[in-house]
Amino acid sequence: MQILDGTAVSAHIKSQIKEEAASLSAKTGKKPHLAAVLVGNNPASESYVGSKVRTCEELGFDSTLLRFDGDITEQQLLAEIQKLNDNEAVDGILVQLPLPGHISPDMVINNIDPAKDVDGFHPITQGKMLLGQRSFLPATPYGILLMLEHYNIDTTGMNCVVIGRSNIVGTPMTVLLGRNGTPGNATVTMCHSKTKDLKEHTLRADLIVAAIGRSFFLKADMVKDGAIVIDVGINRIDDATKKSGSRLVGDVDFDNVAPKCSYITPVPKGVGPMTICGLMKNTLEAFKLRNNIH
Ligand code: GUN
Repeated sequence: MQILDGTAVSAHIKSQIKEEAASLSAKTGKKPHLAAVLVGNNPASESYVGSKVRTCEELGFDSTLLRFDGDITEQQLLAEIQKLNDNEAVDGILVQLPLPGHISPDMVINNIDPAKDVDGFHPITQGKMLLGQRSFLPATPYGILLMLEHYNIDTTGMNCVVIGRSNIVGTPMTVLLGRNGTPGNATVTMCHSKTKDLKEHTLRADLIVAAIGRSFFLKADMVKDGAIVIDVGINRIDDATKKSGSRLVGDVDFDNVAPKCSYITPVPKGVGPMTICGLMKNTLEAFKLRNNIH
């Protein structure tokens, strides 16, 4: 069993991004610039956005963090996004989800300029992805592809099971693993909360992506020997042995599943750092496209 080490792989990819950004900045006199929008004070969102902004600093990117109270109206937020769309200095826009209940995430996403949609959530971006056209890829599935590529894991002909059908992970992951590309060329089954006999599907899988948001959901008896398991879950559970009183766990019952696997991602330090890599690669790409660098 080999651990797919998100910290090590992301460090490697970030050093490449940093080098390319430095050389492009020297040529253009500009830096890639990511604007992150945070609404309300959800602690998990605070932590994710903090990591994204810190990574910008680490890579020599500019960043702007716009924070708004949870009671901002949808109209006000859309006006703020329009300002970022119109701001020539901004290459990428990220609105951290979830948003408060009175704001439609679809409305917000649909109003981001697709040229700055570095999260890969806009319908035009996802439509291009579906058609196999060049586009930003949603950060988490993109990060998973980068991880598979790094470890030379060839998914051609594999049976893959994606558990979860969200717009930001499960659905794009299913499309990307099935496309005619590398990684890709797999036979992909998308499972979800209404799937009958989930175990029948997972036991046939050479590669499982668990993205359901339920702690320890994927158990050892659902995984065949030698499978590759990618855990997208980030769930906080109580743990009296920790100073904070809690700890992060994934969607996979890691301790029992890992011994059966050929490869597995841990939580934390698996997919999480790779998501940030996907976002940073998209931001660099947006910068290049907006400055006619090919
Ligand atoms: N919430 C959970 N994952 C993500 C992500 O990748 N991007 C944004 N903007 N919000 C999220």
